[in-house]
Amino acid sequence: MDKFRILGRETLSGTLPVSGSKNSSLPAIAACLLTEEPVILHRVPNVRDIATMLKLLEYNGASVERRADGSVRIEAAKITNPEAPYEIVKTMRASSLVLGPLAARTGVARVSVPGGCSIGARPINLHINGLEHLGAVVHQEHGYIEATVPNGLRGNNVHFERITVTGTEDLMMAAALAQGVTVLENAAREPEVVDLADLLTKMGARITGAGTSRIEIEGVSRLHGTEHTIIPDRIEAGTLLIAGIMTNSEVTVTDCFPGHFASLLSKLRQAGARVEESAKAVQVRPVTRLRSVDMTTEEHPGFATDLQAQFMALMTVSSGISFVTENIFENRFMHVPELSRMGANIRIEGRQAIVAGPSELTGAQVMCSDLRASASLVLAALVARGESILDRVYHMDRGYEKIEMKLAQAGARIERIG
Ligand code: EPU
Repeated sequence: MDKFRILGRETLSGTLPVSGSKNSSLPAIAACLLTEEPVILHRVPNVRDIATMLKLLEYNGASVERRADGSVRIEAAKITNPEAPYEIVKTMRASSLVLGPLAARTGVARVSVPGGCSIGARPINLHINGLEHLGAVVHQEHGYIEATVPNGLRGNNVHFERITVTGTEDLMMAAALAQGVTVLENAAREPEVVDLADLLTKMGARITGAGTSRIEIEGVSRLHGTEHTIIPDRIEAGTLLIAGIMTNSEVTVTDCFPGHFASLLSKLRQAGARVEESAKAVQVRPVTRLRSVDMTTEEHPGFATDLQAQFMALMTVSSGISFVTENIFENRFMHVPELSRMGANIRIEGRQAIVAGPSELTGAQVMCSDLRASASLVLAALVARGESILDRVYHMDRGYEKIEMKLAQAGARIERIG
């Protein structure tokens, strides 16, 4: 199993380029199931979750060609196997994104019920309720959800009880091929939802309101092939920015859309960081002191839960007390005991972590528990005194493309060891 060895306390310099968004690529790949024509997606990051999703589409019968330039060509001329098997779903919850497209395209979809996950229960009841509103008949048996569409999908009003990102995406894809108009209310407003709407529109779908909490989709009878460039990964951008700030460096995070992580930038400024944004880049500069600020995760445009662990790492080296409240997932503090091993002073009370800083972090042997928790440990190790060994970096590989190379190129002492 791969590990990272990180020797802390190096300052970074130069540029840190951002890859294409993992969480935008996943629904975009699922959307390729909606047409028999080829779709070419550019700027798809080469990370493990994407490889898993591509494997799933191949299992469904699509032909997949990954090119050296980071683009992927997918042609789902025929769907031979409209199923997401347990082996794939258990490694990646986002595989439930094929539920809507498969049901819409073939009239039947079988998706393994996702089990628990290290960050929370992660049910898909809202995807299912939504599909039922569009006329699907859904049964659960032997650990699988089976959706059939006896009379074709029909547009309807769907009000999400709770905001769900992949649920909104799943329903938007199903509704694109339904008969009539679907209105999604209390929809997710994340940039990834907007990116998917842009792709679907290029494929011939009629969608308005993506990026607001009310999305209207007028179904069409068929969609066609197209080409699309995935948006930059806002979570990677945020992680790299925090790396620059924690190491007190002058670096520029490039190839990103700062408007997609405005709530992070505002918190960083409140904490005293010097961040300057331009159209597609953000520069950070050294400061003498960072101060603690409170932060609460929320749906977009609020502070992203996917940046909570990284922000907490920053708070461990800031002066004062910070209350970090996690509202989206019930178990997303797995990084806390590991950060504590490195000398952080953090107490958990229910959904809140109370961070007292600044702590003088020291290198230690720590364990990655999930994707974003791993990122927070990398950040802590970059400023810790001495050497850290991060075990189970396969979690990091799920969603960060060449992270150790990017950081090393900017001057960090980080290497992958077997
Ligand atoms: N929820 C339900 N029922 C559902 C769906 C969701 O109760 O049917 C609950 C969840 O348990 C959670 C909340 O609603 O408490 C929000 O979950 P959401 O459905 O929005 O999460 P998701 O779509 O499964 C996506 C990202 C996650 C990110 C969340 C929140 C993708 C592929 N994944 O997950 O990304 O944390 O939205 O922003 O887009 C990551 O990249 O590390 C990651 C976990």
